[in-house]
Amino acid sequence: MAQQIHRLVVALGLALTLGLFAPQAMAQVNPTAQSVTEEALFNALGNGGNVTGRITIPDAHAGQLIAPENRAWAALQGDTLHTISIWAVIGMVALLTLFYLVRGKIRIDSGMSGRKILRFNAIERFAHWTLASTFIILALSGLNIIIGRTVLLPMLGEGAFGTLSAWGKVAHNFLAWPFMVALVMILVLWVIHNIPNKVDLEWIKQGGGLLKKGVHPPAKKFNAGQKIIFWAVVLGGAALSFTGVMLLFPNEVASFADWQFYQTIHALTAAVLSAIIIAHIYIGSVGMEGAFDAMGSGEVDENWAKEHHSLWVKEVKGEAASEARPHPAE
Ligand code: HEM
Repeated sequence: MAQQIHRLVVALGLALTLGLFAPQAMAQVNPTAQSVTEEALFNALGNGGNVTGRITIPDAHAGQLIAPENRAWAALQGDTLHTISIWAVIGMVALLTLFYLVRGKIRIDSGMSGRKILRFNAIERFAHWTLASTFIILALSGLNIIIGRTVLLPMLGEGAFGTLSAWGKVAHNFLAWPFMVALVMILVLWVIHNIPNKVDLEWIKQGGGLLKKGVHPPAKKFNAGQKIIFWAVVLGGAALSFTGVMLLFPNEVASFADWQFYQTIHALTAAVLSAIIIAHIYIGSVGMEGAFDAMGSGEVDENWAKEHHSLWVKEVKGEAASEARPHPAE
């Protein structure tokens, strides 16, 4: 606080010297007094606490040095949103650790059959990995903006941290585009399999079989849990994309208030989606035996498929059987 007041006093002094403010406004308060508060200084300036100056460039906004509503937003951004983001991530990691300790790795109860079924083709895997890799870099470079100075700067030193952050910013700005392309791809490829149906209710009632060994509620290509992930990614990704583009082109945004709104939605959505994705990555890799193959080679073990997506296996096998059967005309 004392440091902030000091900076403010210096700034006001400078501004005064440059003749930016009306001298009669400053006459109401002594900026060097020990008891003076930031608020008192702003009130003394009149104009609702807005600090403005004269500029010669066309962008009139640039003449506004301080606006009280911007300061309220900066506090929301600097404290509340950063705290929510950090706790969302730490909370999810703690939950998953607990889940792992209680439940352990989810195994294929009937063991591997050795027979494979194609689950995702090359286009689906390309879309998934483009989405996944860009999202992870976007999330990490975004996280660096929030906690980089506290966590990484002391570890890396100014030079390396500066280089990393500069590249992080470039990556964040440019990888947003392939992320959006991949988002549209998965929407087109998978939306048909993610429309909620009655089977999902039963899956949810049985906790997806995740909590108890040997419980395998039926599911089609995607179970209810995956549908939640899918829609969170699609809707969250769309919100991130729209607000992100607005932040990339701030001159297109009508007012500061809109810009601050987009920024808040961007930060909140990123925090919630990152936490959800951490859970997804856990289940798709170390948390469940046989799951990674679906996005690795594209082929899963038949017993894994029967345990987690029994109705989908029937559909696929049904199709395979009807394809193998000779048609009457043949
Ligand atoms: C290293 C990171 C990741 C791994 C190991 C991984 C793994 C997987 C696997 C194995 C599947 C297929 C599940 C199945 O066969 O049913 C899958 C599906 C999916 N992944 Fe990922 N994934 C990762 C990152 C991401 C990221 C960052 C996103 C989005 C931002 C994402 C979005 C999806 C979506 C929407 C699906 C389909 C719905 C679902 O299965 O939940 N993945 N992932």
